[in-house]
Amino acid sequence: MWQPILTRNIHLPNSEKITTYFDHGGYQSVRKALTLAPDDVIDLVKRARLRGRGGAGFPTGLKWSFVPKGAGVTRYLAVNTDEGEPGTFKDRAIVERDPHQIIEGVIIAAYAIQAQRAFVYIRGEFFLGVKRWIKAIADAYQYGLLGKNILNSGFSLDISVHRGAGAYICGEETAMIESLEGKRGEPRLKPPYPVQAGLWGQPTVVQNVETLVNVPHIVLNGPEWYAAIGTEKSTGPKIFCVSGHVNRPGVYELPLGTPLRTIIDDYAGGVRHGHTIKAVIPGGVSTNLVLPAQLDVPMSFEGLEAIGTQLGTGGIVVMDDTTNMVEVARRTVAFFAHESCGSCVPCRLGGYRLLETLTRFTQHTATADDLQNLQWLVRGINGITFCPLGAGMANPVNALLHHFDGEFRAHMQVN
Ligand SMILES: Cc1cc2nc3c(=O)[nH]c(=O)nc-3n(C[C@H](O)[C@H](O)[C@H](O)COP(=O)(O)O)c2cc1C
Ligand code: SF4
Repeated sequence: MWQPILTRNIHLPNSEKITTYFDHGGYQSVRKALTLAPDDVIDLVKRARLRGRGGAGFPTGLKWSFVPKGAGVTRYLAVNTDEGEPGTFKDRAIVERDPHQIIEGVIIAAYAIQAQRAFVYIRGEFFLGVKRWIKAIADAYQYGLLGKNILNSGFSLDISVHRGAGAYICGEETAMIESLEGKRGEPRLKPPYPVQAGLWGQPTVVQNVETLVNVPHIVLNGPEWYAAIGTEKSTGPKIFCVSGHVNRPGVYELPLGTPLRTIIDDYAGGVRHGHTIKAVIPGGVSTNLVLPAQLDVPMSFEGLEAIGTQLGTGGIVVMDDTTNMVEVARRTVAFFAHESCGSCVPCRLGGYRLLETLTRFTQHTATADDLQNLQWLVRGINGITFCPLGAGMANPVNALLHHFDGEFRAHMQVN
């Protein structure tokens, strides 16, 4: 039986308190990291082969190694606590119930890249999360874990919390940087990437909450221990959040590579009694569907890529045989169209045309032209928008049209 690493504290009483964290071995890893050279910390994370958990899976140690070195360079770390992907609620669980584990990861990451300033960006509606972040940071200052000369190491770090106004696009790293700078959250053109020119034009590492909580465990237990968990290309534990038509929706931490079927049946309690699975969204709603014949797919970056989808955030949404797939398409597009930042035409207008067309299907007024228009709109949005939000909207519709063509046709106007 797998013993959770990242979520082992979240069910403890008063798990958010610094004293609880200390009682369970907290901040040991920071003490160790501060005795190493910053480059050696980067090397540990590289050897562990940790990949970002915010969706794209970029190798974390490699990202850190791209940060320009040397005195006179101001570097920043930005902690992404926006978590807007529908079906994803893992970071929130850590922020609310074990914020010190993140702070420990932040201190180590900031030390590794030699940043003396870190910013926490958190979705404004996460009231409890905001409260927990602020209290945890204040307590860490009190215990000498933040501020000047941390634990007499000579390293100093300040962290502050910035509340977003609840825009999905502000989770995208460059839009988040714009928002942190006090501007409207719209993505920037890349390159330059934030590690070269981020906040106020300075090198900035943007990191997801779950990614950061892996770091203390890597430093404390070693990269070999870490890399032995999961698969060759997807190392370490992963927090999966399961929702939809399962008996026990929730947050489940398991090694990367665990079969999807195991997560659904053995952990999430299986699909509702008397029903079968129609399709599963594996990594947040912008990832392509997994079909019933593919349920043994290993939940790893490469396992999901091999069947044409992505691990994404690990937000698994299970849909049983009662699910109306046309309505799934409509709701998905309604979300993305609403969240479009509006700065490019295919996403801003294409999204609403897609939504209007899908609404005609759900109202049984769609025609054969509408079916063609759906395909035309998907092609017109997919891959040509300024940021990946456009593809995140068009991709699911494309997959649903492909796999459930009959359902779309059955929703057309009856002449
Ligand atoms: C539209 C969009 C929304 C995103 N939302 C989030 C988010 O809420 N949280 C997050 O950590 N990453 C989000 N990302 C990914 C970030 O841009 C970035 O890749 C990530 O924060 C990097 O951290 P990681 O390497 O630790 O995964 C989003 C990306 C896109 C395109
Ligand atoms: S794809 Fe959408 S969210 Fe992304 S920049 Fe264009 S309008 Fe904004």
